[in-house]
Amino acid sequence: AKLHSLAKTAGKLYFGSATDNPELTDTAYVGILSDNTMFGQITPGNSMKWDATEPEQGTFTFSGGQQIVDLARGNGQLLRGHNCVWYNQLPSWVSGGTFTAAELTSIVQTHCSTIVGHWAGEIVNLTCITEPFNDDGTWRSDVFYNTLGESFVATALMAARSADPTTKLYINDYNIEGSGAKATAMQNLIKSLQAAGTPIDGVGLQCHFIVGEVPTTLQTNMEAFAALGVEIAITELDIRMTLPATAALYDQQKTDYNTVVSACQAVESCIGITIWDYTDKYSWVPSTFSGQGAACPWDSNFVKKPAFDGIAAAF
Ligand code: XIL
Repeated sequence: AKLHSLAKTAGKLYFGSATDNPELTDTAYVGILSDNTMFGQITPGNSMKWDATEPEQGTFTFSGGQQIVDLARGNGQLLRGHNCVWYNQLPSWVSGGTFTAAELTSIVQTHCSTIVGHWAGEIVNLTCITEPFNDDGTWRSDVFYNTLGESFVATALMAARSADPTTKLYINDYNIEGSGAKATAMQNLIKSLQAAGTPIDGVGLQCHFIVGEVPTTLQTNMEAFAALGVEIAITELDIRMTLPATAALYDQQKTDYNTVVSACQAVESCIGITIWDYTDKYSWVPSTFSGQGAACPWDSNFVKKPAFDGIAAAF
């Protein structure tokens, strides 16, 4: 089974994977990643982030991101952009800076328009804003919100739209996959952006899940987003477990991957799915969540796990 081919046949735009520049020296890894019937889209896991692209104010480095763009182009794959404005992986000149509202507005505009403009025409859809909310649905206290209030969202979206009128602009977050205060906050933000005429095309549901804990309201919540008239993308899917992995955990993981992909399949506005790298060898999970891992559909030896069959069966 080839996941992108299955997704296309099922009416989706892509099934894709995140990747990262250091992994691209691993020829076995790149061989699987480059099969455009398995992965019709790739996403740079780090190299388009602010710290990677504008490490000093006004000094832009595109080389890391360009390597992923070139890989996608060479493979005949779509490219998902990630990201313009996020509180994390900021260079210290941004995170530690003290700015007037006018200064920071200009900084956000310059960053977004330069990044998006540089890759104009290359990016199918873009996580423009990542993780603006706390889990209780209040705004995250970061340099952007604390200096600008919620206006930074519209500033970033408008700058991105001007720089590339064709790429679809998304806001992306975690813990908005199921119904609840944070999902409601995102839905209210989308409504207020729409009411103001600000460009917003889609919502990204990250879907960094835990085995056995996929939200039961995933599909109904996706339908609530769809009712607003925006696209939905699953942007960072992985389903981790407390190690060691067992056959029972892998079996539950297969069920959980199937549940997530089935929900996207059932909601027409869900346009595609991205896993946050395809192999446990390069998953971000073990270094971030102590004692957890085995979150991807391929194991660290590039062997497909039961999760793979759970995905394939959902299309
Ligand atoms: C992660 C990367 O995969 C890691 O390599 C990096 O060290 C930290 O960031 N949500 C996001 C992604 O939006 O950008 C994060 O990616 C994972 C959580």
